[in-house]
Parts: sequence; C-alpha cells; structure tokens
Amino acid sequence: MPERPYTLVSCGMSLDGFLDDGSEDRLLLSNDADFDRVDELRARSDAILVGAATVRNDNPRLLVRSDERARGRCARGLPEQPLKVTVTRRAKLDPDSRFFTAGSGPRLVYCASDTVDMARGQLEPVATVVDGGCPVALDRVCADLRDRGVRKLLVEGGGETHTQLLTQGLVDELHLVVAPLFVGEQAATRFVGPGAFPFSGRRRARLVETRAIGDVVLLRYALSPRFRPDAW
Ligand SMILES: NC(=O)c1ccc[n+]([C@@H]2O[C@H](COP(=O)([O-])OP(=O)(O)OC[C@H]3O[C@@H](n4cnc5c(N)ncnc54)[C@H](OP(=O)(O)O)[C@@H]3O)[C@@H](O)[C@H]2O)c1
Repeated sequence: MPERPYTLVSCGMSLDGFLDDGSEDRLLLSNDADFDRVDELRARSDAILVGAATVRNDNPRLLVRSDERARGRCARGLPEQPLKVTVTRRAKLDPDSRFFTAGSGPRLVYCASDTVDMARGQLEPVATVVDGGCPVALDRVCADLRDRGVRKLLVEGGGETHTQLLTQGLVDELHLVVAPLFVGEQAATRFVGPGAFPFSGRRRARLVETRAIGDVVLLRYALSPRFRPDAW
C-alpha cells in the first residue's frame, strides 16, 4: 500500500442524511460556532480536497478565515493557507470560481487523462493540473499528495467524493455534524451514495466523541488503525 496522508472527512448533514437541498442557494447546515471549529481544522491541515461538483455548486473559498490562525500557520513554518485540491473527469471548471481566485495559495486539479489538455488550457494560469489517470483513482491522488508533502488531508465533500474515499478505506477520521432539519428531497445529494463500505452491521465504526455545538451535534468516528485522538 502506498503511503497516504492522515485523512479527515468533515461534513454536515441534515437529519435525513442530505448534504444540500435542490435549491440554487447553498443550504447552511452548521452554525457559527461549528464553522469556527471547521476553521480550526482547516488551519491544522496541509491540504483541503473537494469534488468538482462542490466547486461548481457551492463556489467555496476553502480558506482559513481567521487571520490569527493564518498567522499561526506561518509561525509554525507552514504556508499561510492550505493547498486546495479538486478532482474532475470532465474538466468543466470555471477559472473565475472562488476555489481558484480566493487566497494566494496553490491549487491542484487532478484531471482524467482524456481531458487533461483541455483542463490545462483553461486552468493552468490559476492552478496546477495533474494527469490523474483514466479513471482518476483517489488512492493514487492521496499517494501523490503525500509525495508532495501533504501529511494531513481535510476532505470537505461532496457525497461522491466521500463515497469513494470511504469505500476504498482511505479515511482515518470522520467528523459528521448533524443539523436539526430535514431536506426531504429525493434528488438532493446524500452524505454518501451506494457502495461497499468497510463498516456495516458486521463491523461497526468506533465512535470516539459526541459534542453538542449549539443546535448541531458533532459525531466523531475513528475509521482506521491510524486514528489518534490528537492526530489533528
Ligand atoms: N454539507 C456539507 O458539509 C457539504 C460539503 C461539501 C459539499 N456539499 C454539497 O455536496 C454537493 C456536491 O456533492 P456531489 O456528490 O454531487 O459531488 P462532489 O463529490 O463534490 O463532486 C463530484 C465530482 O467530482 C469529480 N470526481 C469525483 N471523483 C472523481 C474521480 N475519481 N475521478 C474524476 N473526477 C472525480 C467529478 O467531477 P466532474 O463532474 O467535473 O467530472 C464528479 O462529478 C454540493 O451540492 C454541495 O452543496 C455539502
């Protein structure tokens, strides 16, 4: 097995297991205190990975928001902001989206071999495009990130990306925040899609913490033997 970064999946979901609703606007599942907790996770990460649909739908900045935390990173000898990473098959990404424009740190796009030239043409001024093979295998992406110096990888969605990482056993720790609302839409995106997950009725995941944060609850799970309570 190639080496890979310590990988933490962090996401919020509704009581009925959805990451978002079908509306144009991003559904806010967390509250201010929880967003601040996630900012601390970002500040401690080397890289933040999201799927291309999250880049398109949510247009996230994926930055450490607190100036103090960003300065703290510099004081620890880290870049001010973590590396931003996405994966795509179709390479239909807008170079003006905030993934590419917000912050001055580097961005990596792992792209399928057959669209890599198109991606380079569109994105090379704002990102480094890496040929991720065909199809792009996330275990190789993780190994390549490790080779690039990423030791702590924070994954922030969406469902398709979670599903691959979880079914392939590439996640060490899960932070799942449950928000007190229902989405109730068949077509909305679930926390994960169908798949053969390593945790099932026969083998349960290990719950290591529950924490009420205002009106949401954080469930923290250890998903690999590499889990350490203080790894992050
Ligand atoms: N509640 C939360 O915490 C949270 C966090 C993040 C996102 N979300 C929500 O989740 C939704 C998006 O989730 P999603 O499941 O639709 O998608 P996603 O996981 O964000 O992205 C899926 C896309 O990523 C690319 N991709 C994923 N795996 C790939 C692979 N192995 N090789 C090549 N490309 C790959 C493909 O991009 P191409 O289509 O470009 O080929 C694919 O369509 C958004 O609506 C967002 O609001 C919620």
